[in-house]
Amino acid sequence: MTGELSPIDKAKFVAAKRAAQFVEDGMRVGLGTGSTAAWLVRCLGEMVRDDGLRIKGVPTSTRTAQLAREVGIEVISLDEAKWLDLTIDGADEFDGELNLIKGGGGALLQEKIVATASDQMVVIADIGKEVETLGAFPLPVEVIPFGWQTTQALVEETLVSMDVLGRNSTLRMNGEIPFVTDEGNYILDLHLKRIGNARQMALVMNQMPGVVENGLFIDICDAVVIGYGDGRVEVRDINEGTVDRDKMEFVETDNLFSDLSD
Ligand code: 5RP
Repeated sequence: MTGELSPIDKAKFVAAKRAAQFVEDGMRVGLGTGSTAAWLVRCLGEMVRDDGLRIKGVPTSTRTAQLAREVGIEVISLDEAKWLDLTIDGADEFDGELNLIKGGGGALLQEKIVATASDQMVVIADIGKEVETLGAFPLPVEVIPFGWQTTQALVEETLVSMDVLGRNSTLRMNGEIPFVTDEGNYILDLHLKRIGNARQMALVMNQMPGVVENGLFIDICDAVVIGYGDGRVEVRDINEGTVDRDKMEFVETDNLFSDLSD
């Protein structure tokens, strides 16, 4: 059945499978959102069912919460957990310092809160997510619906003085209507092409009234597990300065591969 997976899905799967090895019995684990994170949740569900792994999961979106429950992971809220041992999540881009753009799936706010409340954040990604400089992927900025067009104008005006290549932004849509986050907010996607100073951008964005959070994760990620379509994985740990290489086997199990939707 893995023959039906595209190389990119295989890369996502092996990254998730390798990252699942970081999870130990008794841990409180932040569960990310997106297609790569969904593979992780499925892998952890299999470990819970088959190996008796006992974990408590804090999901970063309603869809991750639903999947986690479906695969048998005990789900608790962040307030119940208070602090987490580990968060594993996907990313839209990561650079050499493991700074990230996240929010392609619209869950950046919960994702940043959960990752920040964790001893360790591990990102899982296919190799296509690695960039030299962040910004080719549009930067998601979560804004409250009240006066969102005024907030958008303020954001675009602020970009004039920033080290970026593009300055327009678009309201994320869900068909004919605005996309609404789990917190009831809207998302502006900033088409910056290149962010010269991501740290400054993250700080400036969050100072604007109407902006709730931005998708830049600066100094939050500790390690990245990079998957390749042929089963190779690379674990880069920014704190240890280490790079480990491995090759994962595709072990086909109906539970993991029967539902390929996110
Ligand atoms: C959701 C995210 C995702 O982690 C990011 O969009 C990556 O998604 P995928 O694993 O599907 O490529 O930030 O808000």
